[in-house]
Order: sequence, then structure tokens, then C-alpha cells
Amino acid sequence: MNFIDDELERLRRSGLYRELKVVEEGQGARVKINGREVIQLSSNNYLGLAAHPELKKAASSAIEKYGCGSGASRLISGNLKLHEKLEEKISSFKGTESSLLFNSGYTANLGVISSLCGRGDIIFSDKLNHASIIDGCLMSGAEIKRYPHKDIDALERFLKSTPTSMHRCGGKKRLIVTDGVFSMDGDIAPLREIIKLAKDYSALVMVDDAHATGVLGKKGGGTAEHLGLDDGIDIVMGTFSKALGSFGGFIAGRREIREFLINKARSFIYTTSLPPSVIASSIRAIEIAEEGNYLRDSLWRNVNCLKEGLKNMGFDTMKSQSHIIPVFIGDADKTMEMSQMLLREGVFVQGIRPPTVPQGKSRLRVTVTSSHSVDDINIALESFKRAGERLGII
Ligand SMILES: Cc1ncc(COP(=O)(O)O)c(C=O)c1O
Repeated sequence: MNFIDDELERLRRSGLYRELKVVEEGQGARVKINGREVIQLSSNNYLGLAAHPELKKAASSAIEKYGCGSGASRLISGNLKLHEKLEEKISSFKGTESSLLFNSGYTANLGVISSLCGRGDIIFSDKLNHASIIDGCLMSGAEIKRYPHKDIDALERFLKSTPTSMHRCGGKKRLIVTDGVFSMDGDIAPLREIIKLAKDYSALVMVDDAHATGVLGKKGGGTAEHLGLDDGIDIVMGTFSKALGSFGGFIAGRREIREFLINKARSFIYTTSLPPSVIASSIRAIEIAEEGNYLRDSLWRNVNCLKEGLKNMGFDTMKSQSHIIPVFIGDADKTMEMSQMLLREGVFVQGIRPPTVPQGKSRLRVTVTSSHSVDDINIALESFKRAGERLGII
């Protein structure tokens, strides 16, 4: 087992060793860490639904009615009426013909990309796409063309220089895949332009809407709703684990895509389906998110207040266009030092380092939720000021 010790030592020496922090209590604006209450600015629980009383009630009623587990995979005997009901909700929420649940967003991306594409096909993937997309691309065996972040001209050059798709006639398939909201940078994909290119060069479009679902768009429908796009996206992936406060991933699109994935996606076929309690709270989460303009309003109030406050102090929030606010530091060690300093101040913000982001691009990833109060934001801003000045960042 020497290789394990060697690798751990290498990670420690290079400053890339990761440690788990334990959240002892709480699921909201404040949590307890190391026996102390701190302001939570690192959760994806954007609408504060993870501890919503209605979601808890839905989960406990489902346990009473159906028990704790689903007993088998969907294709064996684990396809409960609840799973089908949730899929109807997802389709109407996303405005698609159908949808299919996966056990997480990660396994949704793996399953979809690796079953749609294979050897001989070409995937065009934004360089800052989430790791689950990258892993799905690698698993597929397709040729991968990673275009520079949001660079439409580079994407067009790639599309031009590869054979035109004949996928409807059984030839090479071409898939353009992008995050809707980029998870570490908080900027938004140029979907209108991507859809146009896909039409011009016969490619399929897949959007990972993990961070936009429930948040972007008037009704929380996601990136397409936010940009006013009615069609052109073949596959939308989403997750319940972030703004929707529950757990599990999904794919939304045409009916045939659902049928295809039920038959082909290994991460759908070979795993026990999500338990009834999770499904019931996800159903309630969609209902609340659809009605939940008041939650989005307080989220955006908090986002704007925090982002503007940070910028006014001289922090670089990069090109964030959303509720994900990166605070650029650059150096990995300094980033982690700032994160530790903030925790001592009573503010929980995670530092993001390579390999999650490129070398020299380390940053704090700050996320606020609709549950935070104006006081929480102001206290956090004061702590950022003290820590930033002490480290010479501002
Ligand atoms: C962009 C993106 N896609 C997919 C995932 C995976 O989703 P899940 O946490 O449901 O597995 C995440 C979150 O980690 C993400 O940020």
C-alpha cells in the first residue's frame, strides 16, 4: 500500500490535500461547525428548501406509507407510482414531453452522455464543464473536443473542421454539451448562439442545468427560461440536490430520449431507485419552487447585496452573472488561508483549488440563499473586509 502513502504525501506537499469539514447541526443560513454557530455561505441550498417544513412533512408521510427503501431498480420492481408522478412534475416544470429520474446529477450525466455517444462520435464540451460531464464524455469513448470557455467562434471552428453529422441516418453523432450556469464561475452559457450553431452544423444540444433549476427564470424553469428560449435544446439535465433542497438527478426531453435511456443508460438500469421519502420531498419541492417567486426575490436581494458589497470593497467577483459568486484569489494556499480566517470569524466559505479549477485560478466560492437575513449578509461582509485586508487581497 506504499503508493497510497506516497500519493497522500505528494498531495500534502503540493498543498492540494483535501479534508472534510463536519457540519454538526443546522441546515440553513447558519450551521454549527467545531461546536460554534457560523454563517453558511457554501451551500447550494439556494432556496432554503432543504429544511422546509413541507418537504419534511412530505418525506415522513411517504415513509409511513411506503417504507424507507424502494426495494429494487426501476426495471425490476422499484418503479413506484411516486417515481412516475415526480417525472410528470419535472416534465411540466421544464416544459418537455417527458423526463427520467437518475439517482444523482452525477449519474445522470454519466448515463446520458455515455449511452448517447460512443466510439466514432464527437462531443464538443465547454472547458469549464462540471466533472460529471467530463467523466460521462470519457466513459462514452467518443472523441472529445473541449472548446475554450463560452467561445462560440472556437466552437464553430471545431464544428466546421469535423464531419457533418448524419446521426439521423445512423452515422456519426455530434453532441454539444454545456453547463447552463457554470458551477465555479457563476456565469451563464451562450445558449442562443450554441443552439444556432447546432442547427447549422447538425449537432445535438445538452444543457446541465444543475445550478439554474429552481433559480433562473420567472418560474425557476432554468437557463432556457431565463434566456427566453422555447426550443433547440435536445436534453436538459437537472438535479434536486441544490435549489430544490432534496436529492436525485433527472433528464428532460423528448419521449424517445426517455425510452432510449431506460433501455441504454447503465447508471439508470443497474441501481436501486431513489427511496419514496426523497421522491415525495422532491415532488413538494417542485410545487414550492413553481409558486416560489417570494423565495427567488429574497435570494436575488441577498445575492445583489453580497456581490455589490464584495465588489465595492475591491474583491474580484470574476464574471459572475448569477447566484454563484466566486471571489478570485489566484494562489491556492492563500485561498485556503482566507477560508480558514473567515471560519474563525464565523463565516463558512469554501476555497476551491486545482484540480477543480485551473492552476492559478483558485477562489472562494460564495453562495448565499433566500434564508439569509440582511444582518447575516452585513456580518459576512465585515468579516470578508477584515480577512481580505489582513491577507493583502484588498
Ligand atoms: C454543474 C453540475 N452538474 C452536476 C452535478 C452533480 O449533481 P449531484 O450533486 O446531484 O450529483 C453538480 C454538483 O455537484 C454540478 O455542479
